[in-house]
Amino acid sequence: MSFLGTRVRTAVMLASAFVFSALIAHAADVFDFIPLGGRSLLAGALAGRNAADIQAVVAARHTRDEWVAYLKGHNAQFPAVQKLSDKQMLTLADYMSFNLPLSAKAPSAPTQAAWEKALPLDGRDMALEYCQGCHIITVVVTQDKPKSGWLGTMHKPSHIQIKLTEPQREALANYLVLNAAIPIDDVPEDLRAGGATY
Ligand code: HEC
Repeated sequence: MSFLGTRVRTAVMLASAFVFSALIAHAADVFDFIPLGGRSLLAGALAGRNAADIQAVVAARHTRDEWVAYLKGHNAQFPAVQKLSDKQMLTLADYMSFNLPLSAKAPSAPTQAAWEKALPLDGRDMALEYCQGCHIITVVVTQDKPKSGWLGTMHKPSHIQIKLTEPQREALANYLVLNAAIPIDDVPEDLRAGGATY
């Protein structure tokens, strides 16, 4: 494609992203179809639990597989974990492998809302915050890519300047491997136009 062609297409994408962000300001839950990330899943697991059990989790460092084993072995202490699907379990364990031990201070009251605020961004948060500036989120969440493909996109000249660190790009890629590839029929009508047409 010519340089001019790319510029024009980018300008069109930018314009539609602006119009779109004005629309969504009034309908925040239009994104409900995008699966929960590790921040919300972990907040749900920790909410209202015993302080010592919480401390044992937030002070530990494990790999994703180790966290899966830990959560399965401790699901009596964290009953919310029993309701997770396999995909949610992996999303949660992956998030824990990137973000624990927790560097921030644990909230004084262990409510779900307090944990949601205290925990670092998850893949869903990063996609919503960093992946809508130039195109609709649909371009991202409908794609089916292996991790190398997601990292490839995030290292293209068009994406390299996005303010995400390398570990954040990796965590986002892992979230998208597990949770993207959303069928277009599951995407709200408002988010389909001009979505994944290229
Ligand atoms: C600074 C503008 C900008 C931002 C921010 C942005 N994109 Fe893009 N994106 C583009 C442009 C331009 C294209 C089409 C040209 C290209 O692919 O390089 C594109 C295309 C894509 C595509 C389809 C092409 C492919 O490689 O599969 C995906 C997937 C994608 N972006 C993912 C993301 C993700 C994930 C984020 C957030 C981390 C993001 N984008 C944020 C500019 C942006």
